[in-house]
Amino acid sequence: MLRGRFKGGIDPALLEFSSSLGTDKEMFFEDVWGSKAHVLMLAKQGIISKDDASKILSALEAVKKDYSSGKFVLKQEFEDVHLNVENYVSLECGPEYGGRMHTARSRNDQVLTDSKMHLRGELLQVLGYVLELEKCLLDLSEKHSDTIMPGYTHMQHAQPITFGFWAGSYASMLFRDLERLMNAYDHVNLCPLGACALAGTSFPIDREYTAKLLGFDGVQVNALDAVSSRDHVLETLSELSITMSNLSKMAEELVLWSSHEFRFIEFSDSFATGSSIMPQKKNPDMAELVRGKTGLVYGALVQMLTVMKGLPSGYNRDMQEDRVMLWPALRDVKGALMVLSSGLSLVKVNKEVMASSVYGDYSTATELANYLVRVEGMPFRKAYEVTGGIVKELIAKEKGLEDYESVKQALKRYNVNVSSGALSEILDPSKAVSRNKSIGGTAPAEVRRMVNALRDAAKGFDADLEKKSEKIEAAKKLTAKLVKEFI
Ligand code: ARG
Repeated sequence: MLRGRFKGGIDPALLEFSSSLGTDKEMFFEDVWGSKAHVLMLAKQGIISKDDASKILSALEAVKKDYSSGKFVLKQEFEDVHLNVENYVSLECGPEYGGRMHTARSRNDQVLTDSKMHLRGELLQVLGYVLELEKCLLDLSEKHSDTIMPGYTHMQHAQPITFGFWAGSYASMLFRDLERLMNAYDHVNLCPLGACALAGTSFPIDREYTAKLLGFDGVQVNALDAVSSRDHVLETLSELSITMSNLSKMAEELVLWSSHEFRFIEFSDSFATGSSIMPQKKNPDMAELVRGKTGLVYGALVQMLTVMKGLPSGYNRDMQEDRVMLWPALRDVKGALMVLSSGLSLVKVNKEVMASSVYGDYSTATELANYLVRVEGMPFRKAYEVTGGIVKELIAKEKGLEDYESVKQALKRYNVNVSSGALSEILDPSKAVSRNKSIGGTAPAEVRRMVNALRDAAKGFDADLEKKSEKIEAAKKLTAKLVKEFI
């Protein structure tokens, strides 16, 4: 189709090498919608006649039907989805119509329009799945706001926390992912159509109108910037990478905790896999794959950064590779979010095992030091030293901090008199946890307060997502209505 200035046809090897059909398929419907909006605009502006527009629009309706029924398949000889659709229109109503459809646009702005439309839909789905996981974590956080477990630093028992506090920490992390992905969406949903090849056009086009018909939030104004940039892809892949980084941390903990050494949790049978040789095995493949796919998503980001590095202004064919990284990354992120939501909502939490592991681990030592500060008036560093000495003594005697009598005797040597009853108040893990009432602390009441605050904030995201989807649907309906009026 594009051989006017050449002698003869294209080499089949180059055609195959340069085809983007593999990733264009995903945005076939966006391409047709984009062409409809473009043709409606050309007719409204008097750039093409209403009769011509009517014929082209009928062919665009037909191509959609024929594609859905399988009658029309994308052919490699036409390089990409845009040329395939144009060729269909030409075959359906004559080459002059296919030709007129491409007035005042280039494949450079067209491909970007299609991919941004497809990407925004994908992002809305990702955001929906993040919200689902967010809600699942908030439910867990509420349900287990007083389920005691060890809190770790350096993977060593540090201070007792609750499983609800842990789940809430991921809910709070994921909330920032929601915010970041929403920001990415705002950059994605700006319309490049009308940028044409790179310089705009001498035709009196109406860019605001096409942007509106396609459900964009506005126009991506500078034509050269629009066709030269793929930073919305980089931004999306960066945000997806950060989200996966958070999910992979969680996945790692789930793998550890479902091991025989921890036994903190057990995946439901439907979210575990078996071994082909060891009949007793119950493997957390789901969480391992979340961890593994994180590497793929990071890879997509690095690939795309590398493709874009040092590209000069204007459209460069290198950019065609963007969808090769983007579509699979989106699929993997959605999959990871989905399995984590379902897996976590069915997970069995072994409360007793978790609680018993904070006994004998000296993890309430900080609370003893705090007591010495609060009641005995010691400077914290002194209290730290005294408590350290007591822990050392107890370790030598193979006793834990729960051995109140031994703690009492040891404290006496530092001229501190505390009854065993008072010591049980200070050193009991669940009592220690409930005293951490500082903002964001582990106290069950504070955990529940955080759950409520995040639930309220998540409602705002729910509403926003719905508004965004409705806007796209309304634009689709408006285009369909205008097309109908024409044909
Ligand atoms: N298939 C191309 C892509 O995916 C469409 C744009 C081609 N533009 C060009 N000037 N060759 O990016």
